[in-house]
Amino acid sequence: MKAVAVKPGTPNSVHLTEIPEPTLDAFPDGNGVLVKTLKVGVDATDREINEALYGNAPEGDSHLVIGHESFGVVEAVGPNVRRVKPGDYVTATVRRPGGSIYDMIGTNDMTSEETYYERGINLRHGFMTEKFVDEEEYIVRVPEGLKHLHVLMEPMSCAAKAVQQAYEAQQRMKVWRPRLAYVLGSGQIGLLTTLILKLRGLEVYTLARGEAPNLKSDIVTGMEANYISTRETSMEDLVKKTGKPDLIVDATGSSTLAFQAMQHVGHNGVVVWTSITGGDKNLEIPSDSVNLNWVLGNKLLLGSVNGNRTHFESGIRDLALGEMMFPGVLEKILTHPVEGLDNYQEMMRLLVEEKDALKVYVNVAEE
Ligand code: BGC
Ligand code: ZN
Repeated sequence: MKAVAVKPGTPNSVHLTEIPEPTLDAFPDGNGVLVKTLKVGVDATDREINEALYGNAPEGDSHLVIGHESFGVVEAVGPNVRRVKPGDYVTATVRRPGGSIYDMIGTNDMTSEETYYERGINLRHGFMTEKFVDEEEYIVRVPEGLKHLHVLMEPMSCAAKAVQQAYEAQQRMKVWRPRLAYVLGSGQIGLLTTLILKLRGLEVYTLARGEAPNLKSDIVTGMEANYISTRETSMEDLVKKTGKPDLIVDATGSSTLAFQAMQHVGHNGVVVWTSITGGDKNLEIPSDSVNLNWVLGNKLLLGSVNGNRTHFESGIRDLALGEMMFPGVLEKILTHPVEGLDNYQEMMRLLVEEKDALKVYVNVAEE
């Protein structure tokens, strides 16, 4: 069957390849799930993988099948599978366990080992194939009523984890009732984070470069959040207007902006970094002033990567609630479909060149 792969270490190596069809025999314990792939999304991580800035092939292989944002329909299950059945819509988590205690309790996203295993990204083949098979533990059901949001499940899990981590870490305050949040960036993680924070009742400002009105500002205001173009209003000026936020989530993909956020969060506040920056940028920062404010204000900086099964589940619940609150808004994120795995070059082209492509995804097959 067809698969889209890269040769890690070689820039622009994306290509179509043939791989054997997976079968349930890979799971002799009877807990395997065979999925027919319907759609696969791509994001900045795939772009960096194809630029050879990030990612590794599984041991012994020279190629890596890409694709970590999956959506499909269950074709067959092993005899011991209970959570899903043929015909169900599903997505799959991305991380697979290493050897730490956190991996053993299903929180692979928090592995304490330096090596991490991620399908389609690092040391494990991904989902950009006609079919895939995995253990029941890593397959998450998607409600039929959300199938039109298909490839958003995985990015949503990352946003859900980031917000949940912030709330958990802020238990250090004993009482933490955040009122005001800034979300930096209006890519998929920024927009989905905006949704989650709105659903938690915060006043949300989503900051991005483009001048409103544009698609992203439509989506932000469609969720009753505020869209700020940083071309018109800097973060500094916004703080003068709103006061310092309790929470800033950076999802810009720019380490410069991630560090800038540290100058603007309020006392007892938290900054969450979510971007994967595969480059090697070096920055000069006002370190004395940040250090001083950070100490005097008991501020917290938190990194958040990936999401485990529980974050997929809570993310999916928030997508359902989001659809109830703001009907029709979320699907506007899904801007650029590509027809079929054969069109992988068009997929990469859109991902790299198309400024208006908020979300590129491949329609792998019809049901
Ligand atoms: C993926 C995450 C992954 C991260 C780091 C992101 O693009 O969505 O699942 O953990 O990259 O590799
Ligand atoms: Zn991703």
